[in-house]
Amino acid sequence: MARRAYRVQVLHGPNLNLLGTRDPGIYGTTTLAEIDAELARRAAARNAVVRCQQSNHEGELIELIHRARGWADAIVINPAAYTHTSVAIRDAIDAVALPVIEVHLSNVHAREPFRHESLTAPKCIGQICGFGAQSYYLGLDAALGHVEATNRDGHPRKNQS
Ligand code: DQA
Repeated sequence: MARRAYRVQVLHGPNLNLLGTRDPGIYGTTTLAEIDAELARRAAARNAVVRCQQSNHEGELIELIHRARGWADAIVINPAAYTHTSVAIRDAIDAVALPVIEVHLSNVHAREPFRHESLTAPKCIGQICGFGAQSYYLGLDAALGHVEATNRDGHPRKNQS
């Protein structure tokens, strides 16, 4: 019997609604709508669906992480600036115990020192950064690969730390 489509919640943090015009030298010219459309296309090709949402508000991102529980098999998140500041988003990722992949368009490790630390990455399976819009597509691939492998092996996934 065919399996049900895997579901991936994609979350975009603050200022990412401005992609396309925001600092194109750093973030590129692809818009958020274009990224979301490409994610949906790639997901469909793998019998998966994505639900893509963006918020400029920390509390709303936390609500969206909570709401992913019970719907999503995995989360792909770009917490944007909250990556470097938000204990609350880190705790939300921990609390829902879903596999989470953190993505960034830019290579945060090659930028200002305050971007080198991620409060959220230690609660994720891993972090992908520096590939522009491709970071999201690699993140989706990593999320689906993880869910497929987990289901195949029959091991329910817990966060690692
Ligand atoms: C970002 C990197 C963050 O440091 C920054 O605050 C962002 C975008 C990225 O995708 O490269 O808003 O998450």
